[in-house]
Amino acid sequence: MTKRAIALLLLLIGVIFAGPVSADDKPTDLEILDAWLSSPHADSTSEAFRHWDTEGEIPGTCAVCHSATGVIDYLSTPATTAGLIDHSVPVGTSVECAACHNDNAKALDRVLFPNGQTVSVPDSSAICSVCHQGRSSMDQVDARVVDLEDDTVYPDIAFINIHYAAATSTQLGGTMRGGYQYEGRSYAGPFAHVEGLDTCVSCHDPHKTEVALESCTSCHAGVTEFRAIRTTQLDILMNGDPTAGIGVVIEDLHAALKVAIMVYAKQVTDNPIAYSEVAYPYFFRDLNTDGAADSIEAVFPNRYQSWTPRLLKAAYNYQFVAKDSGAFAHNPHYVIQLMIDSIENLSEVAEIDTTGFQRP
Ligand code: HEC
Ligand code: HEC
Ligand code: HEC
Ligand code: HEC
Ligand code: HEC
Repeated sequence: MTKRAIALLLLLIGVIFAGPVSADDKPTDLEILDAWLSSPHADSTSEAFRHWDTEGEIPGTCAVCHSATGVIDYLSTPATTAGLIDHSVPVGTSVECAACHNDNAKALDRVLFPNGQTVSVPDSSAICSVCHQGRSSMDQVDARVVDLEDDTVYPDIAFINIHYAAATSTQLGGTMRGGYQYEGRSYAGPFAHVEGLDTCVSCHDPHKTEVALESCTSCHAGVTEFRAIRTTQLDILMNGDPTAGIGVVIEDLHAALKVAIMVYAKQVTDNPIAYSEVAYPYFFRDLNTDGAADSIEAVFPNRYQSWTPRLLKAAYNYQFVAKDSGAFAHNPHYVIQLMIDSIENLSEVAEIDTTGFQRP
């Protein structure tokens, strides 16, 4: 759709246009339109909106988050299963104005999550949480491995994927069980951050979707990139540098978790594993044992099929962190806890060094 056509459509359905000139420092309608057009929500060429082109319709299991039509239908009746409607919708929409601006979205203050829990989200960020919640929780992982032996290979176990950009599940932390939480450990709850910067749209512009670094530097003085922000005093990696950005710490731990997963797979399942950021379903057999999923390895028929329950839990957490690139800002301590616990759990049976961590 062209910009002109969208503007016309909006005027026709009489959505929100208040007037051509804005009072005070509110954005004008055209600025909002431009911001939205530049955002991933409007990118109609993206895989997130084109994936179903050959079928011509988006099934009800995917439509809620991948089309305006789907989310509007979802909000029109009380949800019983998170992210699911009972019918397909046509392809061809993106996250358009009407996806977030309709009466049901406006009234929305409680959101259902993949673990069956409903949470109250008292501001206009509730709509973001409908789509940015992921598609699973630790409950699905537990259900899959109940009564199984931790270190036995079960060829019929398949990888469980959190799906993508599940920022709200990260932010809610332990209360929503988005990551795999190990028994006997306690986990950080919702990341409160500071008043006024504690909801999706207080940090993210709802239309551009970006976060402005300038809105952070009044408190986090001197940082030139988000991942350099650090307030946690604890020397988590015990390397004598408690000033490295919390995002950098998370990246380092994430890399250490990947190594731990590979060591465990090699030693316990006798079947080396490798990870691909881009190819579904992400974990593959590492045929040449070079520690990477090369292009011939990262193909569906070579997907990893030697899962043990212990390996599945750690891999689930690896992906949980991998697919929320803002995890360090959404709930840093929660994801750090998940990763340290995964590494320690794998080390119970594999030779993995865990001496270098302090759990926040
Ligand atoms: C609860 C919401 C939700 C549901 C349900 C959902 N998705 Fe997604 N999906 C997302 C979000 C959010 C993204 C955007 C991730 C990003 O680009 O940051 C995404 C991204 C994708 C992508 C693009 C991934 C990439 O690497 O670019 C594909 C493909 C996809 N989803 C397929 C599906 C399929 C197939 C289904 C149904 C079986 C489905 N999704 C159901 C929320 C959902
Ligand atoms: C992803 C969801 C989403 C989409 C898509 C979206 N908006 Fe919004 N919009 C919001 C939210 C959330 C707010 C409220 C922001 C707040 O509370 O600070 C908002 C606020 C507004 C406002 C009031 C602005 C203000 O600062 O008071 C207008 C006008 C508006 N949107 C128009 C549009 C138009 C036009 C489109 C399409 C071009 C659009 N929106 C697309 C979520 C969305
Ligand atoms: C109807 C579902 C839906 C709603 C509602 C929604 N999003 Fe999204 N969001 C998506 C999808 C799908 C993508 C991926 C788009 C693409 O790949 O072009 C995405 C992408 C994003 C991205 C960029 C992610 C990346 O990997 O580059 C951000 C940031 C984002 N959304 C924030 C928000 C915020 C903030 C809100 C609430 C104001 C919101 N979204 C509401 C579905 C949604
Ligand atoms: C404290 C501020 C803050 C809050 C609150 C916050 N975010 Fe973020 N978010 C960020 C930062 C910083 C990034 C990383 C942006 C970057 O690297 O450009 C990010 C990244 C993202 C991304 C991935 C964008 C990308 O480019 O890959 C999505 C999607 C997202 N946030 C959605 C949300 C949603 C939904 C909420 C509400 C639950 C939320 N965020 C709350 C600061 C915040
Ligand atoms: C009004 C002051 C203030 C502003 C502005 C602010 N923050 Fe914060 N930030 C804090 C405080 C206070 C903490 C410590 C919170 C805690 O530990 O619970 C913090 C912690 C963080 C952390 C965790 C760091 C760590 O080491 O654990 C991140 C990441 C973060 N802020 C990101 C952001 C981003 C992104 C922005 C801009 C969108 C921002 N902050 C703006 C005050 C602020």
